[in-house]
Amino acid sequence: MGSDYGKENSGKVAIITGAAQGIGKAISEKFVKEKINVFLFDLKEDVFKIAKKLNNIDVFAKAIKTDLTDKQNIKEAVLSVLNTTGKIDILVNCAGVVFLDNVEDLKEEEWDITIAVNLKAPFILSQEVSKSMIANKGGKIINIASQAGVIALEKHAAYCASKAGLIGLTKVFAIELAKFNIQVNAISPTVILTELGKKAWAGKRGEEMIKKIPAGRFGYPEEIASAVYYLISKDADLITGENLIIDGGYTIQ
Ligand SMILES: NC(=O)c1ccc[n+]([C@@H]2O[C@H](COP(=O)([O-])OP(=O)(O)OC[C@H]3O[C@@H](n4cnc5c(N)ncnc54)[C@H](O)[C@@H]3O)[C@@H](O)[C@H]2O)c1
Repeated sequence: MGSDYGKENSGKVAIITGAAQGIGKAISEKFVKEKINVFLFDLKEDVFKIAKKLNNIDVFAKAIKTDLTDKQNIKEAVLSVLNTTGKIDILVNCAGVVFLDNVEDLKEEEWDITIAVNLKAPFILSQEVSKSMIANKGGKIINIASQAGVIALEKHAAYCASKAGLIGLTKVFAIELAKFNIQVNAISPTVILTELGKKAWAGKRGEEMIKKIPAGRFGYPEEIASAVYYLISKDADLITGENLIIDGGYTIQ
């Protein structure tokens, strides 16, 4: 341990969802830098450009255009990974959406799509991928949740519900899969400077929010990628069912 930190990850195979931009893109970049092969799942065409940029002689980066609201599409994407590599060592459920409105105005379709992308897709993906991990006697699943999964944020009803659900789901997968040497953890960031972060916290709302964060700033995607990398390392093999909150102290007050 210690001096060999991370080295055992070389040659592993990971799926990262929401990899076309933001936190998912930063995680993909970190993994490739650490010689982990990556499959990038995203709805956006940009994911092909990201994969092309990351692919190199040491490791591959392949994009699979996937709509995470479509169960069949998810299953086909996982199957195509398994047909290529025969195994999946790491799954990072990172894709997410947010719709902001008062509880009395939030539309049913906004609720449905939030739950589909933020909660149901991680469930289906973890189910599919864990079958391969069980057969291989090991694996790591990381769910990108949010501070919104542990506290209330105004106008975030569906988002808070989806992320609280994801933290609960993380714990159940963790206890059931521990005996197969599979660790399942969540990471809950505060506001991170990405498209989604800017959408939710633009202007005055953001200025007010920063004042409430003891560290006095928002986070960067790379800070979340580093935490993911620690949790998928062998050094973190005893950590499972945890929700690592990365929020500059916002939720301890
Ligand atoms: N940015 C923040 O402030 C913040 C804070 C806490 C948690 N998070 C969580 O981190 C994760 C990543 O957020 P981000 O800020 O990088 O967001 P982002 O909007 O920059 O990127 C999200 C990615 O998910 C993809 N995606 C959305 N719906 C999809 C679908 N149906 N099928 C396939 N892909 C889909 C998008 O195309 C996009 O590439 C999300 O789960 C988010 O809830 C973000």
